[in-house]
Amino acid sequence: MIPGAGPSADREVDLVLVPMRWWHIETVAALEPSVFAADPWSAELFWSELAQGVQRRYLTALAGPSAQPGSVGSDEPGGPGTWDVASIVGYGGLAVADDGAYIQTVGVVPAMRGRGIGARLMIALLRHARTVGARSCGLEVRTDNHAARALYARLGFVDIGMRRGYYQPSGGDAYVMRVRPIDTVGYATLLDGMERDLPGRVRLAP
Ligand SMILES: CC(C)(COP(=O)(O)OP(=O)(O)OC[C@H]1O[C@@H](n2cnc3c(N)ncnc32)[C@H](O)[C@@H]1OP(=O)(O)O)[C@@H](O)C(=O)NCCC(=O)NCCS
Repeated sequence: MIPGAGPSADREVDLVLVPMRWWHIETVAALEPSVFAADPWSAELFWSELAQGVQRRYLTALAGPSAQPGSVGSDEPGGPGTWDVASIVGYGGLAVADDGAYIQTVGVVPAMRGRGIGARLMIALLRHARTVGARSCGLEVRTDNHAARALYARLGFVDIGMRRGYYQPSGGDAYVMRVRPIDTVGYATLLDGMERDLPGRVRLAP
């Protein structure tokens, strides 16, 4: 059993990944302290990230009855088939500049970890990076974050350095990790193969 997954946890989950919208921010920011025990982001930081437009790609993962296969609708507030922000179980963001991409954040609520949601978010972000022409992807990760480091290693990330005291205000150290090249058939195959082995189902919504 993966710590935090809960005793009766079923790893199968129906997931919808949608672009993060402003109406997700309040919920996401409220989840941050439980997702990131140290150094949670503020709502203002998410607002400023979404304001970067095409230089950012943020995804929200929703799970539960409103994310069943076959359900239709948008996630706009009050729209048909609305996906309730209460269904938010994870999120992640990517920055793109020139031919490089950078994972800004990725997080899954503690009760839903170990079901492949983090992997699906990462795969979707890396596919986006490929689509917009990125040849590499970088990130920082706390040196003691074994779950995240295991996930990144499976995605081909390797350590290229360390930043002492990178995380503030906690002062935690970070490894700098990078994967390249990602603009190859081989890397697309790696993402496809990893996705195939994940539990549950996922849909990408526009
Ligand atoms: C890192 C994180 C996003 C992974 O999300 P997730 O949905 O649990 O990830 P997955 O289910 O796709 O699992 C990824 C791998 O981590 C492992 N893992 C998940 N939770 C774990 C835990 N608590 N301890 C050890 N390993 C764990 C899984 O076993 C899996 O590896 P495997 O498939 O080879 O067994 C999630 O743990 C999280 O939100 N952590 C807190 C926020 C954070 O640290 N984000 C990363 C910032 S750089």
